[in-house]
Amino acid sequence: NTIHNTLIIGKKIIYLPSCHSTNDIAAELVHSGIGEEGTVVIADNQTGGRGQRGTTWHSEPGQNLMFSLILQPRTVAIDQQFLISQVVALAIYDMLRVHTDQVKIKWPNDIYVSGKKLSGTLIENSIQGGSISHSIVGIGVNINQLVFESGRTSSLAQVIGRQVSLKEEFDRIISFLDIRYQQLLRSDGYNKIREEYLSHLYGFQSPVLFRYNNEDVSGIVQGVAESGQILVQLNGEEEIRSFGLKEIEWVW
Ligand code: BTN
Repeated sequence: NTIHNTLIIGKKIIYLPSCHSTNDIAAELVHSGIGEEGTVVIADNQTGGRGQRGTTWHSEPGQNLMFSLILQPRTVAIDQQFLISQVVALAIYDMLRVHTDQVKIKWPNDIYVSGKKLSGTLIENSIQGGSISHSIVGIGVNINQLVFESGRTSSLAQVIGRQVSLKEEFDRIISFLDIRYQQLLRSDGYNKIREEYLSHLYGFQSPVLFRYNNEDVSGIVQGVAESGQILVQLNGEEEIRSFGLKEIEWVW
């Protein structure tokens, strides 16, 4: 199974009806030396889908996109690895933007449409000799599921009011990922990537709510550092501070 009109991503596609986590399958391929760059592992169902910060990722079987890609971003230095998150977020943005103009990237790489989460990404990098040898990019996008446990989660079908073809959306996202990955490999594209990411960022230069030090505080996102830390001006403070995922949370 391949997608022919891409340069790197989707040259080899492994489809599984069900697995524990596509990220784990991709990691096994890498460890057994058969995880070529661009390989995509896609499943209709995951029994142990994993999210950021040790959370679980739930998805109704056969309704949504759940896949992982294997990248070997040799030209990306370790201290620049947040660029991988940024290009992936932009590719998901591009794919959803075809259907709606209400798309926002919520730092670090969740994708929201009309205030609801449609997509999340779990990137696992392996570092070898000071550079990124492999990056496993796990992507979940809610496409046709109509019932959710949380009112803050939704799907493409729910926000646009009609069901779409999973296969077409998969091909579309793979093409955008391929284009965005080419942009990352051209090292002159870094500023453009950071600029585009910021232009779609939720809370950029506007007041939003954070959970910080066990309190809800309002703050203004002023940017994202090269390290991936978010730059926030907290309510009433003059100073712009940088925070990692462990220090600050979204209130929703
Ligand atoms: C998050 O929002 O916390 C990240 C969710 C990532 C989910 C995807 S689904 C495909 C891949 N396999 C996993 O186990 N997780 C990612």
